[in-house]
Amino acid sequence: MGEERMSSNVGFRSPEEWERLAKERLEQGPFEYIQSGSGAEETLEANLAGLRNWKIVPRVLRDVSTLDVQSTIIGVQSNLPVALAPVGFQTIIHPEGELAAARAAAAKGIPYTVSTVSSYSMEQIAEVMGKGARFFQLYWPNDDEIALSFVKRAEKSGYSAILITVDTPLLGLREQDKQNQYFPLKNGHGLGNYESDPVFRTKANLETKEKSEVISEVASRLFNPTLTWEKVRWLRTQTKLPIVIKGIVHPDDARLAVENGIDGVVVSNHGGRQLDGSISSMDALEDMVKAVKGDIPIIFDGGIRRGVDIVKALALGADSVLIGRLYAYALIDGQVGVEKAITQLKDEFQTALALTGETKLIDLKKTMLLKR
Ligand code: FNR
Repeated sequence: MGEERMSSNVGFRSPEEWERLAKERLEQGPFEYIQSGSGAEETLEANLAGLRNWKIVPRVLRDVSTLDVQSTIIGVQSNLPVALAPVGFQTIIHPEGELAAARAAAAKGIPYTVSTVSSYSMEQIAEVMGKGARFFQLYWPNDDEIALSFVKRAEKSGYSAILITVDTPLLGLREQDKQNQYFPLKNGHGLGNYESDPVFRTKANLETKEKSEVISEVASRLFNPTLTWEKVRWLRTQTKLPIVIKGIVHPDDARLAVENGIDGVVVSNHGGRQLDGSISSMDALEDMVKAVKGDIPIIFDGGIRRGVDIVKALALGADSVLIGRLYAYALIDGQVGVEKAITQLKDEFQTALALTGETKLIDLKKTMLLKR
């Protein structure tokens, strides 16, 4: 590992440095859209603190010369127990947006999750990914036929799971965005999947519409506050793809996911962007693990910035993690930036694993953690 590590130090950037670089290059509106959380940002901060509060008690004098960090995430192979989280509107960061980030994920052999509000369409993103593993994240619109159309398109273009985000029946109150009067959709970002959707096009009579009217049509359909398990059960009958529920922190909801035939959960509070005052992801994880570990895969997100954070989440019982802001900031340098961030995360994760005294993901156990 030594020499490879030395050469990869060229152009090394810490997560904080990626953030600083993004801040330097982006205008205030888009930068703060990425960085901020909702309300007083208690949950945003709690996600980071929740990880910091757990400390590893490492073991020594074990042979850690050979590490195996290969993973399976919702049935697909990954070079790390990490996938890129759905992050909408990526052209606010870089003109190539999702195309650049998805290419980076494919090149590094980890899955990419396309947001419903991606700036490029899911078909365009699929095309640049080739055989790269990909998931589609569904913001269930207030129209079931459009929701189903998205899912059918995802099936056709090689997506291997649907992640339904359920913590967003409506948008959290993000004070920064209100102050900046900024929402990417209003500036024409994030239309990729809607503009190209045949069902939406007909319903919204898109042929006759100006851009600003298209945006209003999308905005009026984007979220669905009436969504319940009943609709999820219906979608279960409509697709063979695995369905994952993203954005739950209550163990009763995790049990309901299992009872409703769901294939995985993402323990997440949307990176502190929805209910401010909500429990941190790491504090939620323990009870979620008690509720459904062994029944369905548990994916964790919220606050992952370094390899050691992944060790902690896996030791507490997560099977894999998603990263959001970490790669969003690195996208400021396009595909190269995201690849660099993933390479570095892998190096950090392997180093943390070995220094913990372990070589395999399955050996990461809660007994190696103490809460302080
Ligand atoms: C998000 N997230 C998100 N989630 C989702 O389901 N659909 C989406 O379109 C978006 N968009 C989005 C944009 C931006 C700028 C951010 C920062 C986040 C939430 C995301 O998937 C994930 O849950 C969090 O980002 C995880 O927290 P960290 O890694 O950013 O701390």
